[in-house]
Amino acid sequence: MGLLTGDMLGPLAVALAVFLLLLDLMQRRGCWAARYPPGPTPLPLLGNLLQMDFQNTLSYFDQLRHRFGNVFSLQLAWTPVVVLNGLDAVREALVCHSEDTADRPPMPIYEHLGFGPHSQGVILARYGREWREQRRFSLSMLRNLGLGKKSLEQWVAEEASCLCEAFADHAGRPFSPRALVDKAVSNVISSLTFGRRFEYDDPRFLKLLDRLQAGVEEDQGFLHEFLNSIPVLLRIPGLASKVFSAQKAFMALTDELIQECRMTWDPTQPPRDLTDGFLEEMEKAKGSPESSFNDENLRMVISDLFAAGMVSTSTTLTWALLLMILHPDVQRRVQQEIDEVIGRVQRPEMGDQTRMPFTMAVVHEVQRFGDIVPLGLPHMTSRDTEVQGFLIPKGTRIITNLSSVLKDEKIWKKPFRFYPEHFLDAQGRFVKQEAFMPFSAGRRVCLGEPLARMELFLFFTCLLQRFSFSVPAGQPRPSDHGVFSFLVAPAPYQLCAVPR
Ligand code: HEM
Repeated sequence: MGLLTGDMLGPLAVALAVFLLLLDLMQRRGCWAARYPPGPTPLPLLGNLLQMDFQNTLSYFDQLRHRFGNVFSLQLAWTPVVVLNGLDAVREALVCHSEDTADRPPMPIYEHLGFGPHSQGVILARYGREWREQRRFSLSMLRNLGLGKKSLEQWVAEEASCLCEAFADHAGRPFSPRALVDKAVSNVISSLTFGRRFEYDDPRFLKLLDRLQAGVEEDQGFLHEFLNSIPVLLRIPGLASKVFSAQKAFMALTDELIQECRMTWDPTQPPRDLTDGFLEEMEKAKGSPESSFNDENLRMVISDLFAAGMVSTSTTLTWALLLMILHPDVQRRVQQEIDEVIGRVQRPEMGDQTRMPFTMAVVHEVQRFGDIVPLGLPHMTSRDTEVQGFLIPKGTRIITNLSSVLKDEKIWKKPFRFYPEHFLDAQGRFVKQEAFMPFSAGRRVCLGEPLARMELFLFFTCLLQRFSFSVPAGQPRPSDHGVFSFLVAPAPYQLCAVPR
């Protein structure tokens, strides 16, 4: 230490600064490629991190889109990022180059939850064998569990009845529907993952939902991005547990539920749920250390499905109810169609959809207008890829601005209005739209799409068959502007549910 005299500190600092700048330039050399997308000038080391508006990323991206066009770049510390906007660019990347853009960027922050080479879950798994195994497994369980003694459709229909009872308990008085919808949707995913539902006032259930919600909030903002960009900071003892305390608590509760399933699992019987199916695969994979069917991954896969399946569907249903109280004429037309096709007594079924074009159009328009996952999930290029004439080098993080597709002014007649006619032809028949991409597209397209569609249709029709919804008397009309966090949800609101 005695060697470090005051005279030496100056040159040492200069040498360190030069070293860091050179390292910084090395890390960013991909951006100098010819035809690399334009973007705002990055600062040394931090890139554009300080210019990013993490509170309002969507409008920041909108400004950059106007300045640089549909394909622009950013530098988040040493992570190169390309943002794709509009149907043409997003479709070209996700559909035409589906394999080259199917990877996910490394997310070192999730190592504190148990993310590792053979325990990557599904959502954030790198594009490779582990992801393929788990995606195929989850999809086949979703399909096959519907064939068991109680079909998935039956689970959803019965849960919709429970939700209606809970709405009826409010006896027409104003209430906020969000918490009840969360519980109903969670019970559907719980039936799939753990083969059970919870009573709506079960303290453990309430804690699970509370920690899940808080965990989603931990997944956003500057600190999240900063720690992911400079993961060495997570080595600071206790930091990860403090910053991600809700996610840790959610995982601990998931572990408990898995353990309960494990104790009653009978390997000689067909799987009751996804956990049983996974345990069965683990038995088969005994002796192959490379398999992704292991204890650590069981909790990652289950928590992935639970979180992805609950938050998104529940947020969409909350949008649906809000839009019905804001557009009573649309609500009346849906109820009229329900009365004509299903009546007031019989339970709605998935088969009714084909005879309910208006309701189908409304559910689709709720998803388009609600636009709940505006920036999708991050992708990464696994080889140099050309999009709209720009070159995106291998290893670049890609953000698909799904919102710019769902509200593309070149495609939708009234992109910023709730307008179910977007999905109807002149004869009132339901029409699909290519730019309807709330579940994204390509190889990583949402694997829960069929389940989500089933839940949206059955919950929505059951509720509107039973109740008329309205803004409570004397209360101001709620806003239809979403609140942006990781998902876009309506601002909290109250409604009245009056039995029909
Ligand atoms: C309205 C409801 C839903 C919406 C809007 C939605 C939307 C999305 C979006 C935008 C993605 C990202 C796709 C990409 O990376 O490009 C995604 C992925 C995913 N979703 Fe959904 N989702 C919904 C419901 C569900 C449900 C019910 C489940 C569970 C059963 C689920 C499970 C997943 C999984 C596991 C992934 C990751 C897929 C992969 O990386 O291969 N989602 N979802």
